[in-house]
Amino acid sequence: MFGRKKKQPIEITVMPRHVAIIMDGNGRWATRRGLPRTAGHKVGSENFVKTVDACIRLGLECLTVYAFSTENWQRSADEVEGIMKIMHAYIIKYVPELIKKNVRLRILGDLSYFDEESRRALLESENKLENNTGLTLCIALSYGGRNEIRQAVEALIKEGATEISEQSISDKLYTASLPDPDLVIRTGGEKRISNFLLWQSAYAEYYFSDDLWPDFNEEKLKEAIAEFGKRKRRYGK
Ligand code: IPE
Ligand code: IPE
Ligand code: MG
Repeated sequence: MFGRKKKQPIEITVMPRHVAIIMDGNGRWATRRGLPRTAGHKVGSENFVKTVDACIRLGLECLTVYAFSTENWQRSADEVEGIMKIMHAYIIKYVPELIKKNVRLRILGDLSYFDEESRRALLESENKLENNTGLTLCIALSYGGRNEIRQAVEALIKEGATEISEQSISDKLYTASLPDPDLVIRTGGEKRISNFLLWQSAYAEYYFSDDLWPDFNEEKLKEAIAEFGKRKRRYGK
């Protein structure tokens, strides 16, 4: 009408069961604004909360977010401390809100890196939400895919397993009993997997966005899911 182009609504044709997101680009978002990297992590965590709400509205079954990798422990003590403070604020204090929203929580990662108090607080948060029946929210925290597979094999050996099947490994991963991710989204422009859900993503569809994580809004998430619906999954057949 009068030369103004109407934006086409985003059409989601196939809903994935499990969406996994590598939330990358917080540091660059802050640096571009002359802010400390931690400010980017703060805004990034606010975007995480908005994304959870968007996934609830979409009726998604399972969302996994990559919040902190085992390799991220090698960042400066300042940055690690800043991220951990934010994590405490958002995972632990966010629990009452998640109860209301009927969200179940799973922390995926090597919690041996945390002190006893943090570990207990994380497990308590999971326990408080375990009877919920809505969105399953998995937070990959102190997570590394190779370490996860190594730990799974180690657990099987300790149990005295003489045969190891793909299923027996899957059952020992942090994601045991969850569906594999159908769609893995990475923001921030990098086209790599950075040790995320290596085993589980064997047949996932990948979607890379140049948007930095704090800029990746509901609209962009829907675009990614709409694109997923156009993919033809063949599983080698
Ligand atoms: C992702 O953002 C969050 C974490 C890894 C904790 P980055 O901190 O990696 O941001 P960039 O990639 O440096 O911009
Ligand atoms: C991956 O991002 C980890 C998270 C988003 C938590 P990184 O910024 O750590 O990955 P690289 O270093 O670019 O591969
Ligand atoms: Mg990064």
